[in-house]
Amino acid sequence: MRAAVLEQAGAPMIVVDDVELDDPGRGEVRVDIAWCGVCHSDVSQVDGVHPAITPTVLGHEAAGIVVELGPGATQLAVGDHVILSPNAACGHCYWCVRGEHSSCANSAAIAMSMLPDGSTRLSRRGEVVYRGLGLAAMAEQVVVAESAAIRIDRDLPLDLACIIGCAVQTGVGAALHAAKVRPGDSVLVMGAGGIGLSVVQGARIAGATRILVSDPVEARRTTALGVGATDVVDPSIDDIVSECHRLTGVGVDHAFDAVGSAALVEAGIAATRHGGTTVMVGAAPVDHEARIHVVTAMFTEKRIVGTLLGGCHAPRDFPRLVALWQRGMLDLEAMVTARRPLSEVNEAMGDMRSGRGVRTVLDIRNSPNGLSLGVPPIH
Ligand SMILES: NC(=O)c1ccc[n+]([C@@H]2O[C@H](COP(=O)([O-])OP(=O)(O)OC[C@H]3O[C@@H](n4cnc5c(N)ncnc54)[C@H](O)[C@@H]3O)[C@@H](O)[C@H]2O)c1
Ligand SMILES: [Zn+2]
Ligand SMILES: [Zn+2]
Repeated sequence: MRAAVLEQAGAPMIVVDDVELDDPGRGEVRVDIAWCGVCHSDVSQVDGVHPAITPTVLGHEAAGIVVELGPGATQLAVGDHVILSPNAACGHCYWCVRGEHSSCANSAAIAMSMLPDGSTRLSRRGEVVYRGLGLAAMAEQVVVAESAAIRIDRDLPLDLACIIGCAVQTGVGAALHAAKVRPGDSVLVMGAGGIGLSVVQGARIAGATRILVSDPVEARRTTALGVGATDVVDPSIDDIVSECHRLTGVGVDHAFDAVGSAALVEAGIAATRHGGTTVMVGAAPVDHEARIHVVTAMFTEKRIVGTLLGGCHAPRDFPRLVALWQRGMLDLEAMVTARRPLSEVNEAMGDMRSGRGVRTVLDIRNSPNGLSLGVPPIH
């Protein structure tokens, strides 16, 4: 099959090459990928900001159609439309039995570039190929645990559905699960990419009444206003911390770093009110360390929390997110701003590096609406 392969960490170019994929094993399914979004976490691996074991197939934000069931896979059927999750939970580890599925010790997102058993199911001319951030979905097909493929209603087009797999579950989940935003709360979101705009939407859905967004890119600030921001700031001109205190009098209830920077985590702590929460959503470069004045943090009862994929549990949260879209409460259309064939994967990475649009999604089958797939999606 054709797949987007990163040959070497830090190499700016990705090649589209032929890769072998094993058959689905026990409890696994094979999925034809229709669309895969480009996330900044892919770009960070390409640019060497985050480590990658190479050669690796990128892509962890995808939707497609089930084409084959492995032995013992009973929950899905051939033809089902599915969104893939990079952090399918095992259901039986220390964290899963406590309901903390996003911290599952056996999820592919934790194992990173391999499946939990250490295999990758991918090879090229006899050599092992790795799985990017768990899914390796910039490819014509994936083989995943059945629990990593969540069936969705067919009225949601797959080019919109795919971004639920990372950006939307991460951002909406950060607001609902990590921060637990409540009606009437005030929120600061730093960074208005796919993740930050999803935080904005999660905060709006939760009933936040003041949602301040900072981003240096004007078009992204405009998009933020369209999906729920009440105020926008250009951080290259205005001081975001004093703006939060000026607007609220006490500081915001919740601040989100949706960029990935120690300086912005520190800004979030300064921008929140006493007892407020700063959520680390962005994935900072590996050498970033934030400084906390411990006694001040103690007196002010501030909370700092990290979140992996928004603390979502895909089987519970993906159908909920689809239902929010069906009810007009979640705007996916505003976030998918470009569609490119898989062969333009490098240009798609360039869209993100230069802040062009919001999310570029790759048409893996290179057809107008994914219609080259065996089962035509219903639009
Ligand atoms: N926690 C998780 O599980 C998780 C999941 C997915 C992505 N991420 C991370 O989230 C971050 C955002 O991802 P994305 O795909 O939305 O990226 P993106 O590049 O689309 O968006 C980042 C935005 O931040 C803006 N920005 C840059 N510097 C800024 C500053 N100083 N102040 C305010 N805004 C600034 C950029 O203009 C851009 O609009 C990345 O670090 C990514 O790796 C984390
Ligand atoms: Zn991602
Ligand atoms: Zn588990």
